[in-house]
Amino acid sequence: MTRLRDASILVVGASGGLGRDIARLLADQGARLILSGRDRDRLEALDLRWPIITADLADPAEIVDLVARATDVTGRLDGIVNAAGVVAFGAATEVTDATLDRLFAVNTLAPIRLLRAARQGPWPTPPPRGVVPSW
Ligand SMILES: NC(=O)c1ccc[n+]([C@@H]2O[C@H](COP(=O)([O-])OP(=O)(O)OC[C@H]3O[C@@H](n4cnc5c(N)ncnc54)[C@H](OP(=O)(O)O)[C@@H]3O)[C@@H](O)[C@H]2O)c1
Repeated sequence: MTRLRDASILVVGASGGLGRDIARLLADQGARLILSGRDRDRLEALDLRWPIITADLADPAEIVDLVARATDVTGRLDGIVNAAGVVAFGAATEVTDATLDRLFAVNTLAPIRLLRAARQGPWPTPPPRGVVPSW
């Protein structure tokens, strides 16, 4: 079983329902967290004592910056949990390009970009080998 005590884990989407519960579980297991989402108020309302870094996953540059800052904060990154995601409802024939682009950017491209940013960083310890996506 993976050892979580003292592992540095970036929880992306920690302001959401799934991410909040995952963050609490990881904290209970002794992991050191970095909490991320766009909504700082909701991240602060978690009342966890870990650093908060806001980022918009639809913006590739913000993803790179998020991973770099998360690594700076802890000195290393052992894992990333991606619990962020967006949904849209309605007929496929009526969905707009803007909605399609947002769905694809956040749900599909962001996990890949997170992993790529993590693998490309200057690492004092071995980088994360994967991102756990929420879909
Ligand atoms: N809950 C479930 O049982 C379940 C089951 C299977 C799959 N999923 C999937 O898991 C994901 C999370 O579910 P949830 O129930 O926790 O949803 P949720 O409560 O709506 O939370 C969504 C999370 O995604 C973040 N997010 C959305 N767009 C973002 C963006 N552009 N940049 C950064 N963060 C962004 C939100 O952060 P901010 O609000 O701070 O921006 C929030 O933390 C969804 O994709 C959902 O479809 C959920």
